Amino acid sequence: MQADLDRILFDEKTIHHRLDELAARISHDYRDRELTVIAILNGSLIFMADLLRRIPLPLKLDCLSVASYHGETESSGEPVFRQVPLPDIAGRHVLILDDILDSGMTLAAIHEKFETAAPLSVRICVLLEKKKARVRPIKADYVGFQIADEFVVGYGLDYMERYRNLPCIGVLRKGLIAQTEALS
Ligand code: IMP
Ligand code: MG
Repeated sequence: MQADLDRILFDEKTIHHRLDELAARISHDYRDRELTVIAILNGSLIFMADLLRRIPLPLKLDCLSVASYHGETESSGEPVFRQVPLPDIAGRHVLILDDILDSGMTLAAIHEKFETAAPLSVRICVLLEKKKARVRPIKADYVGFQIADEFVVGYGLDYMERYRNLPCIGVLRKGLIAQTEALS
């Protein structure tokens, strides 16, 4: 799998070191509030597992399955909610965890839905944030790393459901994407 990468952006050690810092900030910010984490599947699975084990607070965990890519490398712009009903977040301090903030469509749609469900607060934490103009104006409160606007895989992020189990994050070889897109 690693041979399919053009280059590695963040190795396992770098990711874990950054998670230590993120977890420390989150633990401090929520020290006297009960935290409800909502992880957006499937992309945030590995990030979630590694981050939450670094947060020594009592917390509740729920997952939400939302997809917007449908096997392409550009967002289709239409997030589909696969799990209904939404977790009960009324009266809760919610922290949404996602793998990456790209066009912003997914997180904006989730944020919008959540606002109508009477939470006490909603914050967003993403492992990666692409530096680009967003389709929807949305800001993450906690960001692992900022990256350029290129397609990355690994550490939970996929290309056509592959590469999620790579321990590092890297840029997929362009030829590889062109090849699969020509076949489909
Ligand atoms: P957005 O709605 O465009 O912000 O994209 C949200 C989802 O698209 C993310 O949660 C990812 O699952 C997927 N995505 C966006 N950029 C990438 C990427 O570079 N690699 C893999 N998946 C991505
Ligand atoms: Mg994906």
